[in-house]
Amino acid sequence: MDVYESALDLIGGTPLVRLRTESPAAVYAKLEYLSIGGSSKDRIGLRMIEQAEQDGLLRPGGTVVEATSGNTGIGLALVAAEKGYRSVVVVSDRASEEKVATLRAFGAEVVIKPGGLPREHPDHPMSTAVRIAGTTPGGWLANQYDNPANPEAHYLTTGPEIWRQTHGRVTHLVSCIGTGGTISGAGRYLKEISGDAVQVIGADPASSVYSGGDGRPYFIEAAGHFLHPDTADDVWPTSYHPEVIDRIVPVADRHALDTLRQLACTQGLLVGGSSGTALAAAHQVAAGAGPDAVVVVILPDSGRQYLSKYFNDAWMLRLGFLDGDGSHPRVADATAPDARTAPLPYLNTRTTVGEALAVLRARKSSGAAPVLPAGPCPAGPDRRPTAPELTGSVALAGLEAAVRDGNATPADPLSGHLDPPLPHFGHGEPARRALDELTGNSHDTAVVLHDGCALALITSADLHGALGSAR
Ligand SMILES: Cc1ncc(COP(=O)(O)O)c(C=O)c1O
Repeated sequence: MDVYESALDLIGGTPLVRLRTESPAAVYAKLEYLSIGGSSKDRIGLRMIEQAEQDGLLRPGGTVVEATSGNTGIGLALVAAEKGYRSVVVVSDRASEEKVATLRAFGAEVVIKPGGLPREHPDHPMSTAVRIAGTTPGGWLANQYDNPANPEAHYLTTGPEIWRQTHGRVTHLVSCIGTGGTISGAGRYLKEISGDAVQVIGADPASSVYSGGDGRPYFIEAAGHFLHPDTADDVWPTSYHPEVIDRIVPVADRHALDTLRQLACTQGLLVGGSSGTALAAAHQVAAGAGPDAVVVVILPDSGRQYLSKYFNDAWMLRLGFLDGDGSHPRVADATAPDARTAPLPYLNTRTTVGEALAVLRARKSSGAAPVLPAGPCPAGPDRRPTAPELTGSVALAGLEAAVRDGNATPADPLSGHLDPPLPHFGHGEPARRALDELTGNSHDTAVVLHDGCALALITSADLHGALGSAR
């Protein structure tokens, strides 16, 4: 019979499919979403668990614990379910709903912690997972970031598959870098077997520190390395072996998102955000390679996990990743050069109440402004803040009242006097909808986003102006 004995036999073994491109080089996508659990992380789930069993770290009745943006948790949870272990997965509240629901479907207990905390914080997903593993009898922490079985899984399976499938003709490997396991393991294998002929290229969100970015937040889940402004020591995973990599191509979120949405519409392949980053980089690599080049790009997971984000026009519009849905006027029309509001103020959590009052009083209209994180790379005129950095807000009237009533002194940092973040709209959203949502908001001020970054502030008067001029 042509059958498999268990779900574990359906991990990996994913196909390569040729993509239509404009370059003469051949580009093949490795469709990791066709692995049984839906991502490249099934491979490391299996390898890490089997290595832990061999090492006596995981015994019958034990509990597998991990901190993960989702896919590794899914890989671990499915292997744990098949082998009869309990699993506990800690995720940040930025992980997509679909991933969390999938984890629960595989029987994992999911612990959700706030995203964007520094690694030292006790509520950071990794600190939480370490604690749970340490206090659960039979608990074992998989720790994909520092577990040698992670790159090894790709050294033993992904790399050899690519070599076999291309009959040794692969010339370039392109992969995202999250924990670094995929590119380090598959890259090392391909370099070794080809006598160093295969070029290994990382694809990275443009602001990720791996490609030299400043580490500010970005919108592609599970790829790159983000640097929280309060992080004392930036620790890179030991699963990442930078010496394997020849170069890294930074890819702007907007470009990655356009690439993956287009792939679904034109080539019938529905893949996730990091696949968009990898594919955009692969196109660039292929464009610079000769006609005999064979570029293999690893697409780690499916777009079905991101239907509420990257394939959801409302989500894309709100963050300013789409220019509009044909409605006029748009929010951008209310932020035209003659918008009444002054340029974006750059208040951060360490700005004093006295300094903030001076800034707010100098502004022509509405007294509210966003407050951003302080840190080694604060937002400023040369570096616009991203949506996740809109930490809180302050308003002139509120701060004046706090000082007057003795609840604040001019020397206090703003961190102790924050209101919730201002609402935000994408530049392409209809001005009418923005006005309806802003009406009744206590601060009457919103942030306008373009490609996920704050562009300006607008008030209902600006929106009325745009709507009036369109009438
Ligand atoms: C969707 C997705 N893309 C890319 C990556 C990065 O792969 P690696 O951790 O092997 O570097 C991950 C890992 O978490 C992932 O889940």
